[in-house]
Amino acid sequence: MTSLKDKSILLIISGGIAAYKSLELIRLIRKSGGHVRCILTKGGAQFVTPLSIAALSEENVYDDLWSLKDETEMGHIRLSREADLIVVAPASANIIAQMAQGLTPDLATTTLLASDKPVLIAPAMNHKMWDHPATQANLATLKDRGVLSVGPDEGDMACGEHGMGRMSEPEAIFEAISDFFFKRPLKGLTALVTSGPTHEPLDPVRFIGNRSSGKQGHAIAAALAQAGAHVTLISGPVNQSAPAGVNLIKVQTAAQMLSACENALPADIAVCAAAVADWAPEQASTQKLKKREDESAPTIALKQNPDILKTLSNHKNRPQMVIGFAAETENLLENAAAKRTRKGCDWILANDVGTDGKTFGADENHVYLVSANGQDDWGLTSKTEIARKLTAQITGYFTDHEHKHAAE
Ligand code: CTP
Repeated sequence: MTSLKDKSILLIISGGIAAYKSLELIRLIRKSGGHVRCILTKGGAQFVTPLSIAALSEENVYDDLWSLKDETEMGHIRLSREADLIVVAPASANIIAQMAQGLTPDLATTTLLASDKPVLIAPAMNHKMWDHPATQANLATLKDRGVLSVGPDEGDMACGEHGMGRMSEPEAIFEAISDFFFKRPLKGLTALVTSGPTHEPLDPVRFIGNRSSGKQGHAIAAALAQAGAHVTLISGPVNQSAPAGVNLIKVQTAAQMLSACENALPADIAVCAAAVADWAPEQASTQKLKKREDESAPTIALKQNPDILKTLSNHKNRPQMVIGFAAETENLLENAAAKRTRKGCDWILANDVGTDGKTFGADENHVYLVSANGQDDWGLTSKTEIARKLTAQITGYFTDHEHKHAAE
């Protein structure tokens, strides 16, 4: 059994018959030397008692957001601050939905929203609830934010039905917890990731931009961080929240993005997923441009923006692995291969964006990994899965090649 000595876990037990298995999970964590403190939701308390949790965890059990005693002794902010990992087991469909929406009706959800600690969920619910598009959409949202999950398993359910939705066994959840702490293949490596669009100002209220959502770049940053890399995410204006455990730097323009990237060097890995505007207005007006009396339109002179991917690929502090994207509307693989050589990066993730602009903001993408060895078709996959696959490829690369220690 892996030792969890010096590791502190905040276990949230939400409503579901599987809550009884969480008692065994508490026992396993304690047996391995780990520290566990529990929050029991109202639903969870229908299935297990605070007394049994307190006896096994050897700690107070927290269940009330409005408890004056708990708030003075151990407020909801401190509950998560003192944990290395938050585990939600069982994670009911309800708490998953509340987490995805950022709702805070009780102590458990308030603590989760007030925390930037890594979170592992062990879903447990009826198989129809699990399959429901609402649950699947909520899970995808949580995954994009870097929330880890284990299970559920397939099997007979307490309601008498059979299907996907049984909470993983306590041993499997314990293993997922150990993996979180100890299976970090990119530990010791630093990565910088660009994400989102850039906005190039025309005047104080207008800009040139594009429809990039930042979903792909943020998912890659989350996956690299989960694998143990120290990640700096340099993002243009997006509506995505920062994944857990990454250092987020917000920028507006391509020039700012480049300078933030250079400041993040040395790094071992660079992934340029941002849709950088190729041009910027030569001069941004300091005052709002006004319509003209004669109704003529202004002519806007543009200047070429720096190519961040190319600059990093040819930098004196070049990261050992530099990866770019190619969004093409025709001759996908030829254009991507030519782009890889022209920019000097190691790998290009190429995708056909068609001419309808639907890829921007979409959850799925058909990509190819183009390298010096040819191309690999990854098929139509979710942006989260692309991030996971890319992280696995990067891990493979650093396992096969000597790591040159960028930070030294
Ligand atoms: N990129 C960058 N800086 C720029 C432009 C692009 O870092 N100023 C990066 C993107 O993040 C992406 C890759 O370069 O990883 C491909 O971008 P793309 O716009 O397709 O490349 P271009 O050189 O503009 O090629 P083309 O004009 O053929 O589309």
